[in-house]
Amino acid sequence: MAENVTSLFRSTAAHSPSMAALTRESGDGTGPVDFCIPCNPYFPTPEMFQDMAARLREIITYYPSSAETITAELCELLQLPPQCVAMGNGSTELITWIDHLLVRESLAVPVPTFGRWTDQPMETGKRVDMFPLQESNGFVLDLAQYAEFIRKRGTRVAVICNPNNPDGGFQHRQSLVQFMDAMADLDLVVIDESFLEFADAEEEPSVVQEAMLRPNVVVLRSLGKNFGLHGICFGYLVANPSIAGRIRSMLPKWNLNSFAEHVVFMLKEHSAEYRQSLQQVRRDRAEMAGQLSALPGLTVYPSQGNFLFVRLPLGADGTVVRDRLLTEHRILVRECGNKIGSSSRFLRLVVRPEVDVRRLVSAMEQVLYDNGGNQENQENNAEAGQEGAQQAAGTIAYEIVTRIGTRVPRVYLNEQ
Ligand SMILES: Cc1ncc(COP(=O)(O)O)c(C=O)c1O
Repeated sequence: MAENVTSLFRSTAAHSPSMAALTRESGDGTGPVDFCIPCNPYFPTPEMFQDMAARLREIITYYPSSAETITAELCELLQLPPQCVAMGNGSTELITWIDHLLVRESLAVPVPTFGRWTDQPMETGKRVDMFPLQESNGFVLDLAQYAEFIRKRGTRVAVICNPNNPDGGFQHRQSLVQFMDAMADLDLVVIDESFLEFADAEEEPSVVQEAMLRPNVVVLRSLGKNFGLHGICFGYLVANPSIAGRIRSMLPKWNLNSFAEHVVFMLKEHSAEYRQSLQQVRRDRAEMAGQLSALPGLTVYPSQGNFLFVRLPLGADGTVVRDRLLTEHRILVRECGNKIGSSSRFLRLVVRPEVDVRRLVSAMEQVLYDNGGNQENQENNAEAGQEGAQQAAGTIAYEIVTRIGTRVPRVYLNEQ
């Protein structure tokens, strides 16, 4: 892949360059292996793609139905009352309207997190109270401390991403219900469940049913990630009829495109394949966590999303690792240095099939450890090994460390 492809990262401050831009820049019309964009690789099935391809002309020639028609179909599928649902052009469109309509002065959000949750309210002049997730605590969100932080600052809106992006941290349903109870006087509590379909820590982890009953709760759901269709941009929110209706009334006519309509109407025929695809992603996540954990000095955090947050060995610079993986191995990863609350020592790696993970691991071995006898790097790696052992001894109590030769594999107990 051409060297100048890495310049694309310098021109996009908050997000990675698009796959279309990277493909254009590659010179040969093919994109890299994508460990960056958190998308379900098993859905839609090849047959569904064939069906869409065969109907392409029909799909894009005509206007879609109204959002009301598409939302009614989605609601039938999900067994939700349509008056409690608003569908948007990606959950990003809904975040925008939540901010415009429901955030009046201040919003709290744990960081690092999805950039729109910090940037959108700042762009409209709101105070954003960022609650730093602690690296020393494995980036685990302590809801009691978060609640105390909100009270101290007098914040009026609280956001929780469950699971959180980029670390994949997860909150159990009951803890969230308690949090919502404690925050009943706030203007709004948003639970962003954009990645929740990938979780397997709990049978029924969603708080959607709670949101419909409460005066100040919105649950946000993206469809691009779990349905493997980011380019379509569709998502929805669930809230009581008054909040959902207010948001719906602001959304532009035809905010959902005809691909979104086509997919929503296809879904009921394909629910078994969809469920299987999620199971496969969960199995891949466990497998990939195991493979990456075997890399010396690399820490893999427990994740319930379709991505893994990893800390590079001491001394490794994420931007260099990202650029070398792209130019030398045609692998795209998300370096997290531009995420508030994170640093260049962290990468977010999307869960992918085993064959791609083998390629990633081999490339990372070359980039991180194949240093051609470079003295400084070898010292850094040795230091990283020591640091890993210290951490295993105390800092992260649930980590099991087993030594196999010089390797330090890490397995987290709550990683399925
Ligand atoms: C936590 C979170 N919420 C919402 C979104 C936006 O999703 P969509 O693609 O549906 O706009 C993202 C995107 O990565 C995200 O990470």
